[in-house]
Amino acid sequence: MKAIVIEQYGDKNQLIEKEMPRPVPGDHQVVVELHATSINPIDWKVREGYLKEMLDFDFPIILGWDAAGVITDVGNKVTNFKAGDRVFARPDTTRLGTYAQYTAVDEHLLAHIPENVSFEEAAAVPLAGLTAWQCLVDFSDIKEGDKVLIHAGSGGVGHYAIQIAKNMGAYVATTASGKNKEWVEKLGVDEFINYKEKDFADELSNYDIVLDTLGGEIQEKSFGILKKGGSLPSIVQPPEDKLADEHGVNAGFVWLEPDGEKLTKLAQMMEEGNLVSVIGHQFNFSAEGLQDAHDLSETHHAKGKIVIKIK
Ligand SMILES: NC(=O)c1ccc[n+]([C@@H]2O[C@H](COP(=O)([O-])OP(=O)(O)OC[C@H]3O[C@@H](n4cnc5c(N)ncnc54)[C@H](OP(=O)(O)O)[C@@H]3O)[C@@H](O)[C@H]2O)c1
Repeated sequence: MKAIVIEQYGDKNQLIEKEMPRPVPGDHQVVVELHATSINPIDWKVREGYLKEMLDFDFPIILGWDAAGVITDVGNKVTNFKAGDRVFARPDTTRLGTYAQYTAVDEHLLAHIPENVSFEEAAAVPLAGLTAWQCLVDFSDIKEGDKVLIHAGSGGVGHYAIQIAKNMGAYVATTASGKNKEWVEKLGVDEFINYKEKDFADELSNYDIVLDTLGGEIQEKSFGILKKGGSLPSIVQPPEDKLADEHGVNAGFVWLEPDGEKLTKLAQMMEEGNLVSVIGHQFNFSAEGLQDAHDLSETHHAKGKIVIKIK
C-alpha cells in the first residue's frame, strides 16, 4: 500500500512516499481503508524527534493519528463492527499511523460515522475532539452555567471545545486573532477576545474552567481569572503545583486517552448538528501534500483543522 513515512527524524523533507505492507488485523482489530486523515501538532513534534524520549518508535514511521474510512477486514473476535462500516478513530498506533491507504484499529477505539458526516469532517475529529471532551467533561466536570475560557478557540482542539462547552450549557469566552472572529462566534461563543488587541486577564474574572492550549505565560495568567475550586486542564505543559495551591485550583496536564465510547458521543452530537468540523485547509495524499500540511501546522496559525483527503 501507499504510505507517507519518515525514515529518520528531521524537517518536513523527511516525509517521503514508500510502499508498505498492508496491515493484517489482530483478533480484536479491524483494518480500515482510509478515505481521510487530519494533521495535529503532535505529527510534526514526533517528526522532529521532540517526543523520542517519550514515544519509542522504530523506523520507518507512518505518522498520523486520525482515521476515517471503511472497514475492509475484521479480526476473529470483533463483535460490533463489520466489513463495509464507515468508521473513525484515534488509533493506538506505535508506528503504523494514518498517512496510509490502510491502517489497523482496535475495536474499542472505533465509532461509526453518522450518515450526514463526510469522511473529511469525521477525520478531523478523533484526536482533537476527544482531547477537548476529556479536558472539559472528564477533568473539569463541566456543568450548565459554568463560565469557561477556551484559549485558541480557532484551533483544532479549541473549536471543538467551544462547541462541547456550549452543548453543556456553559458561558464561553475564547481567545484568537481578529481574522477568526466571525466563524468562531458562529460556533456559539459568548465573548470573543482578540489576543492581539486585549489581554484576557484584564477582561475576565471568576471563571470556573480555563482550557489551556498554549502554556507559558498564558497558562500562568490563567490562574488569576479562576474561582477558588476552578479547573485548569492544560494540554501543553504541566501546571505548577505551587500556583494551583495558591489559587485553590484543580490544575493538571491532560494527555489524550483514545476511546471509542466517547468518540461515539461526539458522533451523536455531529449527527444532531451540535458539533461540526471546521476544515480550514485540505491537502492531497502525497509527500508534497503532507509536507505543506506540516509547514502550515508548524506556524501555530492554522484555521480549525487541516485535513488530508486520501480516497
Ligand atoms: N496533551 C494532549 O493530549 C494534546 C492533544 C491535542 C493537542 N495538544 C497540543 O495542544 C496544542 C494545541 O493544539 P491544536 O491542534 O488546537 O493546535 P492548532 O490547531 O495548531 O492551533 C492553531 C490556532 O491557535 C491560535 N493561536 C495561536 N497563538 C495564539 C494565542 N497566543 N492566543 C490565542 N490563540 C492563538 C491560532 O489562531 P490565530 O491564527 O488567530 O492566532 C490558530 O487558529 C498543541 O501544542 C498540541 O500539540 C495536546
